[in-house]
Amino acid sequence: MQITVTTQPLENVPAGALIVPVFEGKSETRFGAAKLTEAGEVSGKPGEFTLLHHPDAVKADRVLLAGAGKPEKFEPAELRKLAGAAVRHLKSKSVKTIALAFDSEFAGEEFVAAAAEGALLGDYEPDRYKTGNDKKTVDSFALVAGRDGAAQSAERGRILAEAQNFARGLVTEPANRMTPANMADAARAMASEYGLNCEVLDREQMAQLGMGALLGVAQGSAEPPVLIVIRYRPAQPASDAHLGLVGKGVTFDTGGISIKPSEGMEKMKYDMAGGAAMIGAMRALAQLKPAIAVTAYIPCVENMPGSRAQRPGDIVAAMSGKTIEVINTDAEGRLILADALVYARRQGCTHLVDAATLTGAIVVALGHLQVGLFSNNDEMRDRVLAASKSEGERMWPMPLDDDYKEYLKSAFADLSNVGGRWGGAITAAYFLKEFAEETPWVHLDIAGTAWLDEGKPYLAKGPTGLPVRTLVRVAMNW
Ligand code: BES
Ligand code: ZN
Ligand code: ZN
Repeated sequence: MQITVTTQPLENVPAGALIVPVFEGKSETRFGAAKLTEAGEVSGKPGEFTLLHHPDAVKADRVLLAGAGKPEKFEPAELRKLAGAAVRHLKSKSVKTIALAFDSEFAGEEFVAAAAEGALLGDYEPDRYKTGNDKKTVDSFALVAGRDGAAQSAERGRILAEAQNFARGLVTEPANRMTPANMADAARAMASEYGLNCEVLDREQMAQLGMGALLGVAQGSAEPPVLIVIRYRPAQPASDAHLGLVGKGVTFDTGGISIKPSEGMEKMKYDMAGGAAMIGAMRALAQLKPAIAVTAYIPCVENMPGSRAQRPGDIVAAMSGKTIEVINTDAEGRLILADALVYARRQGCTHLVDAATLTGAIVVALGHLQVGLFSNNDEMRDRVLAASKSEGERMWPMPLDDDYKEYLKSAFADLSNVGGRWGGAITAAYFLKEFAEETPWVHLDIAGTAWLDEGKPYLAKGPTGLPVRTLVRVAMNW
């Protein structure tokens, strides 16, 4: 789908359909809609769509009146959803060319970018393995925003949404087509396309570095592990800060010897969504060029049971030297992240953000609406929260008090890899904190938000691509 910006007057814009937001309490009488408004059929409630054929006084073939809700509650996040839902609605009716009218009150930079994002995100379908030739596609989406700088905002939105869709594409791939080696290939290809440096560490290199926690998880699988490193360096750095983005890349999580129930296990192909988000974020950053050095670290493994698999009770040593008793082999994400966090710090990262589908417990705590956010540093936490707010990727701060450490006690090693029944998302985060140590760090538990079990009007079922936009904004705002 091509995103364009036009300054033509609304009535002259050629399109299969022109989307016009309608607000509650502001009655729409243009396009021949007066009677529908009077009859209460067009009220402006969010999600309400009214398709007018051969509308009055405009060139477009159709006008889609799109409920936008109350004007005082209308933020970029609402327009993003509106644009996405409208694209999905019109696509189902085989409309090929779409335009969106902006209300002059809501046409600033953030609104223009959000509209472009919403259209591209709504257009994405995880259907690459469906072979029918009945797939519907939209050719173009025109933003009718007669304002200086609109083209630039639309371009930023396009870069962000395409990066987010790129991440969604990686997560959509099933585990037989997205092994750790495949993930490394995808990262290398992206990096060479966008001029980033990419290095892939193999099992032997990781063994040399002492990454015993990561390698313990990997040893049960025939698929060799990798640690993907993608580097972006600014031409003129604004500071000495170096942001490390660490993403969990478990290409399939069976649970290992502590095997998961078979029901729903197919979903565990999305256990690399944190890693995919980091690759997506780097793709956007390569184009948007922030003034801060950013390096992504993506440990990739497949968590399998088998004769070589690690056993409950095994003790491994992480790269930092800390020893870990593996009580549950299904708590593997924290093990691979421990080594990646230590490696990122040794490589000079001064600030860290990790994203991981880490715990079922975060889904119990926050449902599918909010990312669980944990941090060892208030300033870093506030940076990420501010970015997430601007991007409409909701995140909720969770506690990490020191006495949670007691939950991770092991009789035989420095730490246990599980903390018992209660506070599972917190003890998982606390485990990571033991490896972030003093480096300002934020952990994002995206287990509940990286995947939609049911599609939304504005987004297809499957991977959401969270938190790509927040990560990019953290770097851009540095
Ligand atoms: N990948 C899972 C977490 C997960 C659960 C992601 C549901 C998405 C949806 C993780 O590796 C895991 O298995 N965690 C365990 C930890 C437990 C053994 C302490 C969990 O949450 O049950
Ligand atoms: Zn697991
Ligand atoms: Zn997992």
